[in-house]
Amino acid sequence: MSNLEHTILILNGKGGCGKTTISTNVASYYANNGFRTTLMDYDPQASSSMWHSLRSETSANINLITAYERFSTVTRSWKLRVPLDTQQLIIDVPAGMNGFELQDLIKKVDTIIIPVTPSPIDIHATSDFIKDLILIGKVRSYPIKIGVVANRVKKESPVYLPLIKFLSHLDIPFVTLLWDSMNYVKGAEKGQGIFDMDKADCKDDIESWDELTNWIDSSKDNSRKIHYLSRQASTVSHIG
Ligand SMILES: Nc1ncnc2c1ncn2[C@@H]1O[C@H](COP(=O)(O)OP(=O)(O)O)[C@@H](O)[C@H]1O
Ligand SMILES: [Mg+2]
Repeated sequence: MSNLEHTILILNGKGGCGKTTISTNVASYYANNGFRTTLMDYDPQASSSMWHSLRSETSANINLITAYERFSTVTRSWKLRVPLDTQQLIIDVPAGMNGFELQDLIKKVDTIIIPVTPSPIDIHATSDFIKDLILIGKVRSYPIKIGVVANRVKKESPVYLPLIKFLSHLDIPFVTLLWDSMNYVKGAEKGQGIFDMDKADCKDDIESWDELTNWIDSSKDNSRKIHYLSRQASTVSHIG
């Protein structure tokens, strides 16, 4: 029997919005909270794999799957390669993933986190991306939670009002904002997430994660799992 509690996909059509940073930090969060955690890297650029290779032996254990090294079929490799005792599975994908491959992944996940940097260009591209994603959902209508996270927010200028407006049309939660912080940059260099670091050094960053981790964990209670994708599919047609 599977021990999986969550399969979390970090997704956005754009590069540089924080997919790998959020993937590795979600993995760091669960590993440091005692969960058997697997990080699956679908990106041929292998940034998550690189991060993982830099982790020290004393860090909380995270399994790595280099899924960008393709097996004969995605389905077969998935079954063979995810350790059976995995409780939290986190999937980092490249910017351009779409079509069948993305549809196949979406069938397997229960949570999708979409990071967006709060610039007008990124917000516009992400809005289009979300519409496309919902169209995939319309075909599949799986019970998936989707949430958006504003990443690299500068404390002095959080420009995300247009995004909030757009999301409220679609009934997609705006889950939290993560600060633009050197802790993520340092962590990328050392194979650490903020949950591997000294709490005193990253108090503000850890606080900014509370809402995200609570939101992810809220789906442990199945009765609260909402069929977001099917609901959103009926909304998207109204906003064009
Ligand atoms: N919240 C943040 N604060 C500071 N730097 C960040 C933050 N999020 C991402 N970065 C940096 O931005 C760059 C792109 O992030 P990355 O996670 O690799 O994006 P993606 O995987 O979407 O291409 C990296 O150098 C990363 O360290
Ligand atoms: Mg990446």
